[in-house]
Amino acid sequence: MNWDDTTDATPDTERLVGSVADHEDQAVEAALRPKDLGEFIGQEKVREQLDLVLRAARARGATADHVLLSGAPGLGKTTLSMIIAAEMGAPIRITSGPAIQHAGDLAAILSSLQEGEVLFLDEIHRMSRPAEEMLYMAMEDYRVDVIVGKGPGATAIPLELPPFTLVGATTRAGLLPPPLRDRFGFTAHMEFYEPAELERVIHRSANLLEVEIDAQGAAEIAGRSRGTPRIANRLLRRVRDYAQVKADGHITRDIAGVALGVYEVDGRGLDRLDRAVLEALIKLFGGGPVGLSTLAVAVGEERETVEEVAEPFLVREGLLARTPRGRVATPAAWAHLGLTPPQQIRGTSGQQDLFGT
Ligand SMILES: Nc1ncnc2c1ncn2[C@@H]1O[C@H](COP(=O)(O)OP(=O)(O)OP(=O)(O)O)[C@@H](O)[C@H]1O
Ligand SMILES: [Mg+2]
Repeated sequence: MNWDDTTDATPDTERLVGSVADHEDQAVEAALRPKDLGEFIGQEKVREQLDLVLRAARARGATADHVLLSGAPGLGKTTLSMIIAAEMGAPIRITSGPAIQHAGDLAAILSSLQEGEVLFLDEIHRMSRPAEEMLYMAMEDYRVDVIVGKGPGATAIPLELPPFTLVGATTRAGLLPPPLRDRFGFTAHMEFYEPAELERVIHRSANLLEVEIDAQGAAEIAGRSRGTPRIANRLLRRVRDYAQVKADGHITRDIAGVALGVYEVDGRGLDRLDRAVLEALIKLFGGGPVGLSTLAVAVGEERETVEEVAEPFLVREGLLARTPRGRVATPAAWAHLGLTPPQQIRGTSGQQDLFGT
């Protein structure tokens, strides 16, 4: 919805470094997904803990406890849910919060589960209230009350469920009501990946895609992947295209660097929009502070696009700060664009001033 009528509605431009999956990703992702815990790269703590949870359940011959996976898009939540099912030798049913409009939809799914089945509920924070309440009981007592009829004649018929493992995934763990969060036996928070881990992801994917890449080529792509395996895999595919068309197909540091330059992904993983935001902030507004709406107009994007697509990464990278008085470019942002910040931004006192601390 366009509620800032000074901006033009721009079509969703496909972003190479956006963390949300597109159609092409979805097809390739299935092929590139690690199939068991041993193949899953990085997230050492999560892997170790999950391994214990699953091994113990297997040893007891029991169904694994419910698992909540939280973390930013593209870090491997869906992948891990499939691994949980595979490690338990159990079938998996996949659905999502927004797909469950009514409690009845959930009851239908729950009552058709087989014993030990894994139910993967993606975007669990977007489930409706009544469905959520039904889920509480299902998780705890393996039981649901199905309401039959309407009005005063309505009756609740209790329905026993086979033991199952709920795997919930969310990018916004903070939005989950505590009663729901507390019903998970194990919560895994997924962190962004280190460059060395992304290099391993890239080598593994290159292998599966039958692309030749050397260590420096992988490092070059890893450094621009924003800590996110999905982005690493996507950049790898684009660099492969370039290497096939413009070179002999072999990916080296030079090839990766030039290819990503063609796609406007810079050395730190910023794309055209990210840089446009920083440039507007610095060149038009002296580094800020400037309001979000003004900044959005300046780059010709919707307010939400700037706020939800570009800013989280810029903030995480320490390039942009959200202050009570507006958006501010940090000294690191000036440096990234090859500019020298004016004295009042470089000096500590000025900085404190600007960042509203
Ligand atoms: N630890 C990992 N090792 C290797 N590849 C990984 C790893 N984590 C994720 N990937 C790859 O990244 C891609 C995206 O992962 P996945 O779909 O599981 O992310 P997600 O957290 O579910 O994202 P979203 O929040 O958007 O649903 C997959 O293709 C998968 O192959
Ligand atoms: Mg997912």
